[in-house]
Amino acid sequence: MTTQATQLTPVLSATWRDDTPWRLDSYTRAGGYEALDKALGMQPDDLIQLVKDSGLRGRGGAGFPTGMKWGFIPQDNPKPKYLVVNADESEPGTCKDIPLMMASPHTLVEGVIISSYAIRANTAFIYIRGEVLHVVRRVQAAIAEAYAAGHLGKDIHGTGYDLDIVVHAGAGAYICGEETALLDSLEGRRGQPRLRPPFPAVAGLYASPTVINNVESIASVPCIVSNGAAWFSSMGTEKSKGMTLYSLSGHVERPGQYEAPLGITLRELLEMAGGVRAGHELKFWTPGGSSTPLLTAEHLDVPLDYEGVGAAGSMLGTKALQIFDETVCVVRAVLRWTEFYKHESCGKCTPCREGTWWLVQVLARLEKGIGTEDDLEQLLDQCDNILGRSFCALADGAVSPIASSIQFFRAEYLAHFERGGCPFDPVASTLFA
Ligand code: NAI
Repeated sequence: MTTQATQLTPVLSATWRDDTPWRLDSYTRAGGYEALDKALGMQPDDLIQLVKDSGLRGRGGAGFPTGMKWGFIPQDNPKPKYLVVNADESEPGTCKDIPLMMASPHTLVEGVIISSYAIRANTAFIYIRGEVLHVVRRVQAAIAEAYAAGHLGKDIHGTGYDLDIVVHAGAGAYICGEETALLDSLEGRRGQPRLRPPFPAVAGLYASPTVINNVESIASVPCIVSNGAAWFSSMGTEKSKGMTLYSLSGHVERPGQYEAPLGITLRELLEMAGGVRAGHELKFWTPGGSSTPLLTAEHLDVPLDYEGVGAAGSMLGTKALQIFDETVCVVRAVLRWTEFYKHESCGKCTPCREGTWWLVQVLARLEKGIGTEDDLEQLLDQCDNILGRSFCALADGAVSPIASSIQFFRAEYLAHFERGGCPFDPVASTLFA
């Protein structure tokens, strides 16, 4: 991590501690909507090239190059083009898009207008997780302010460009964060993933070319337009450019959102967050929510970028760093996550619908200490049979913490059936000691 790069942050969260950063007047005082003016003076293709040159990669979890995705939109297709913002943030431990929309909704709105102009869309949708009504209201209020100020609607800033933004509140299904399930939901159907290809860039919303980007990805666009591609790519690592928002939760002194260049390590982030809670030590953590394989204290110096975390055997994903200290039973934590995936499986494909149910059955037995070593092998076998065989990434996510927890904490699983109960459970410990 270069000191110079760290000095460039925070960017996205720079105004979050101000008095009313969500209001248009505060945003404008801080230079808001100047990037829009600059962007509208550029050719759409030049904007796409700028985002490509910046190296911005999708912040929803997959890290797909944003400019490349925009470039896939077939401009010779006569159908309308759409921009859809995926604001259905639901990955366990992930809490960065919601604070961003609450603190600085105009950063997202400005990003939506610039991005829509770049892909030549005249309608954009923001699909927000339904449970967070206060966020829906905050974004709607910002959009109303933007219309009133002439940043949205007809003939934006006198350039002849028109754009409308529609805010849609989802109904609280985790699967609707999967981009094609989100599109089905937006079209009024039950949210279930579609077969890809065709990717949404070719046939997305109403079978029209559609760019779907995460909130943070779109909110990163105005600062790239203002400061240039070279500025953005001066932060981060060789293949993972720019700054990003990490969510730190769990057994950490000061949980919250931390903005830093990609490539920072958990050790450095923990320093910023006051460390693991006093008197305790790090046992395991997730780099990108519960859908990414667990890592341990051995991995404190892994660079938190797509390549670094990948080389350590996990995935950067949503950058949701959930910190667990030595008081936590890893089997119980994994069971809890697996129950979540079982509950959220949409049921479309058998490996996920049936598989997540079976994973919970076996894990629950193991956690109660009534399993055997054969159950552990059966669990790994089930994971093998699910990974890569389901319709979307939900079931892959479900097996990630299971397989990695057995890799790092097999002895703890064994301790459950040796003891006939959870060694972390005070009642079971007394009964079976
Ligand atoms: P993916 O790698 O299949 O696709 C990423 C993006 O690139 C998509 O928008 C896709 O349409 C586009 N793309 C990929 N190949 C393309 C091609 N050849 N042509 C055109 N477009 C192409 O990843 P996916 O399944 O969309 O997302 C999985 C990720 O979502 C996981 O890494 C996980 O971390 C993350 N996730 C995030 C959650 C959240 O709350 N933010 C919740 C659950 C998972």
